[in-house]
Amino acid sequence: MVKKLSQQLWIKRKEADKYFFSAKANGYRARSVYKLLEINKKFNLIKENISVADLGAAPGSWSQILADILFSKSKNSKSKIYAIDVNDIKPIENVIIFKKDINEFLTENNSIKAKSLDLVLSDMAPKATGHRFTDQVRATDLVEKAIVFAQNYLSLNGNFVCKLLGANTNDNLIKCIKKHYKYVKLFKPKSSMKDSKEIYLICLSFNNLQ
Ligand SMILES: C[S@@+](CC[C@H](N)C(=O)[O-])C[C@H]1O[C@@H](n2cnc3c(N)ncnc32)[C@H](O)[C@@H]1O
Repeated sequence: MVKKLSQQLWIKRKEADKYFFSAKANGYRARSVYKLLEINKKFNLIKENISVADLGAAPGSWSQILADILFSKSKNSKSKIYAIDVNDIKPIENVIIFKKDINEFLTENNSIKAKSLDLVLSDMAPKATGHRFTDQVRATDLVEKAIVFAQNYLSLNGNFVCKLLGANTNDNLIKCIKKHYKYVKLFKPKSSMKDSKEIYLICLSFNNLQ
């Protein structure tokens, strides 16, 4: 079967992608693992004995590296890692997996205790439809949900990282989020494709005010 040109270009880009190969060689499920490693190197978020939620966790590379870092030194670590995604995530040792929509955690929920997390990470992205406006609306909706999730589940001084896509980087959002955290910054990891519109919102030290 002849592949479409767009498919061929996509494969070519992937083949040329050193992060993709490196992730594969090291047993990580996605190249995104390097984005979290860069974020952590810069902001030092993954500390011993923390409770963390990984939103939009499938296929699981962020949860893999969280488990590696948090459980490699001590098998008796008190850390808790919750991985949430609408899609399947194959089991990862020391990770509690919820195959659920983020929405299910915004209403009353007993799976994770409110105000119990030290770190919330969101790499959620909607399935692309190819229709720019629809994709943008869906991406914005996920960002808003991740922000509400962080407000519900973070403990005082907790940290929040959220992927933003395109127009989500607007000033209003940043202004609004600054009311809830001591330090807010945008960060583009080198391992994020240059031509991709993604950037990460880094929010440190949650003040627990609603
Ligand atoms: C870019 S992938 C995440 C990759 C992941 N960080 C990793 O390293 O393996 C984005 C994920 O967001 C998930 N997602 C999209 N909408 C969601 C929703 N409403 N609730 C939970 N997860 C969602 C998708 O299913 C997809 O797996």
